[in-house]
Amino acid sequence: MCGDNHMSESIIIRPAVRIRGLAVVPGDKSLSHRGLILASLADGRCRLQNLSTGDDVRATIRVLRQLGVRITLDPDGDSAIVEGVGGNLDAPSEELDCGNSGTTMSLMAGLLATRPFESVLTGDESLVKRPMEYIAKPLREMGAEIHLSENGTPPVRINGGDLTGIPYKPAIASAQVKSAVIFAGLFAKGETVFHETLQTRDHTERLLSNLAGKGTVEIDRMDKTITVKGGELPLENFDLVIPGDPSAAAYPISLATLMKESTVTVPFVGLNAGRIAFYRHLQAMGAQLVMTPDPHGQDATGGEAVGEIMVISSSLKNVPVDPERIPALIDEVPLLSVIACISDRPWEITGARRLREKETDRIETTVGMLRSIGAEVEGLEDGMKGPGEQRIRGGVVDPGGDHRIAMCAAVAAWCASDETEILSPDCVRYSYPEFFEQMSELVEYH
Ligand code: S3P
Repeated sequence: MCGDNHMSESIIIRPAVRIRGLAVVPGDKSLSHRGLILASLADGRCRLQNLSTGDDVRATIRVLRQLGVRITLDPDGDSAIVEGVGGNLDAPSEELDCGNSGTTMSLMAGLLATRPFESVLTGDESLVKRPMEYIAKPLREMGAEIHLSENGTPPVRINGGDLTGIPYKPAIASAQVKSAVIFAGLFAKGETVFHETLQTRDHTERLLSNLAGKGTVEIDRMDKTITVKGGELPLENFDLVIPGDPSAAAYPISLATLMKESTVTVPFVGLNAGRIAFYRHLQAMGAQLVMTPDPHGQDATGGEAVGEIMVISSSLKNVPVDPERIPALIDEVPLLSVIACISDRPWEITGARRLREKETDRIETTVGMLRSIGAEVEGLEDGMKGPGEQRIRGGVVDPGGDHRIAMCAAVAAWCASDETEILSPDCVRYSYPEFFEQMSELVEYH
């Protein structure tokens, strides 16, 4: 059955009439991973607040603990004390299980490539199918020995140490590869210069340039380069408050935009320019959406912009998405396709080939999800397209264990004419465990 319990085998979503209220979303997942890793590398005790409560971030905590870092989580699971060990991580006695989290695997691969011991990163049945060659390639060029399975997938076996800095221009735009190279560069001999092709989220370099010693990481936005000075990492202990996750906020915000007589406010949410491309696109579609930065917010967040997002019901028209902006809204593409289906005018999203390498092949699973609830949509090699002004009927959706597909399906289902059953909705636990409970407090029915 069904019901509100997200641990159940399926959940039934009834059509809603409106959504109203304050949505307090979990701490940003990307920043939580990075905050925990950097705290582990700091000299002394760090305190992190408003961490993501999702299983992905739990995977990073588990892996860091296996490397000898003492991390004490408070009972709510959203604050932690981390006893930083500088660079002195222990060799792990077992494989490091990254669960469902590609970010954990990629970032840790970069860091472990610098350690003079063997480590093996593995994950769940979704993660062991994801390509990792693009992460291994630069780390090998820097001098690490990295072995993958024959298909270029995990487990990732690393024999690290003695790296040399390199200039690197990746073949695909990915914040995960950029972060892996930056972490490796921190302990390499000489300089590492990462050339961005298209802009991806910049949390790793931003946190480092704000928290580490001057000159450790230099960001040149004009040149699109990040220069990392290798050697000893000058990083004193720090306290960090993580802003709410703009990718989690996208679900209640989108629903309020789509439904009549609705309004949602999300307080204390990340407004980093590299993360709000989705909201800018909603504005371009006609959404009555306001982002209000808190001018003093950045003091506690390690330089991350933070503020409030407020939206009211809007009438939306599809407008083209610049493929160059796709890396800045990559996690929101499935949600954007739900919105595009319901909005006026035909639509097309391209430049999103990277979606095929996420927790699922998200072009396939988004198209499958939309079709199973009655929308007409076509998958493209690097995106999707459809006619617009679709009536969502409802149906049975299998998200295939992909948290973002489950949450997108729920947003579409609240806008549908009939009921929808979402199978195994518990996958939301990877990024937003409280999703169904929180939304059930905001969504109103007849
Ligand atoms: C992330 C980067 C993005 C995103 C993922 C988290 C990160 O992937 O999809 O959910 O924290 O670095 P890319 O590597 O495609 O940019």
